[in-house]
Amino acid sequence: MSEHTPTGARPEEEPPGSTPARLDQGHVQGTGGIPDRFENPGLPPHVLRNADRDEKAAKRAEVQVAGLFLLSILGTLLFIVAYFIVDTEDTVWVPFTNEMSLANLLLGLGLAFSLLGIGLGAVHWAKTLMPDTEVVEMRHPMRSEQADRDEFVETMVEKGAKGSQLNRRPLLKATFGGAMGLFALPLLVQLVGSLGPLPKNDLSVTYWNGRKQPDGSYKPKKWRLHKDPEDVPIRPSEITIGSVYHIQPEGLLEMEHEMQNEMAKASVLLMRLDPNDFQDTEQGRKARSWGHEGIVAYSKVCTHVGCPVGLYEQTTHHLLCPCHQSTFDVTNDCEVVFGPAGHPLPQLKITVDNEGYLIADQPFQEPVGPSFWERGE
Ligand code: FES
Repeated sequence: MSEHTPTGARPEEEPPGSTPARLDQGHVQGTGGIPDRFENPGLPPHVLRNADRDEKAAKRAEVQVAGLFLLSILGTLLFIVAYFIVDTEDTVWVPFTNEMSLANLLLGLGLAFSLLGIGLGAVHWAKTLMPDTEVVEMRHPMRSEQADRDEFVETMVEKGAKGSQLNRRPLLKATFGGAMGLFALPLLVQLVGSLGPLPKNDLSVTYWNGRKQPDGSYKPKKWRLHKDPEDVPIRPSEITIGSVYHIQPEGLLEMEHEMQNEMAKASVLLMRLDPNDFQDTEQGRKARSWGHEGIVAYSKVCTHVGCPVGLYEQTTHHLLCPCHQSTFDVTNDCEVVFGPAGHPLPQLKITVDNEGYLIADQPFQEPVGPSFWERGE
């Protein structure tokens, strides 16, 4: 501890030419008007808290802190339950606003209670049970001996652990551990749950596979090709060479649920080429034979990362993806001729029904959309 000089000592005379030092109470004059010592203001007397004096009060505080950690645990569980169980279509009326998603409301409340419980519990714990005595560090010398520093680190870790009273208060230990352990779960749930289904299951089956049965299987059905957005069937005679149509399977645009999901996978581009324009390659011959009088249908979902392929160059018979310029050659079974796409666009085999409308002869024979590790190619 530094030495202190009685306050208010004012010299009789100031040295000629020097700037008078401010000698307010507590300052002692130094050179150049800068005080060189300060009176130790001292610490206010330490006030014991209820929990320091009374074990019952400490117990009450412990229960309150545990309650807050329990609130956090319940909030976390609410979040997880809401994420997995509540239907995202369900809505609830909330005052001062319109209807809102029940799932969003519960997710928000769950996360709020989860964080609030931990925060309030930690603050209440620190204010009521953890030591609050003032700690004084000697000012001089500023740097302690190395041995003291090492000892400080060592003892503070132990003292800190002891001061938290975790060993003495198993209820706090359990609830705090539970709250902190579960706190990370919403993030993990969000991270893993939001990845969606494995692409193998999702991209291999589209609406073209037929009628979906209650058990999730598909009853084969040769859907008519419907113009999008008119949602009417199309005859070969309507399609001139060079024209392009956006197609959806019959019935898809009338779906009440999952229409957007199904549409994203089942969208097809329909074009007519002069049959002589197909290349005389294995792919070119296959493309022509899977079409009808030069009319061919290809998945509209880019095999790079899934953007809709939407530009058709009539002169080159190339389909272009606007996202990263992948280019597919329609005369050669939509082989990739430029860009980052890893696979040709899947072809939909088509024919006509007995009323002369174009129909899918079979569903896609390979997964649509981006390449992925389970595809095996
Ligand atoms: S998504 Fe089509 S090129 Fe990238």
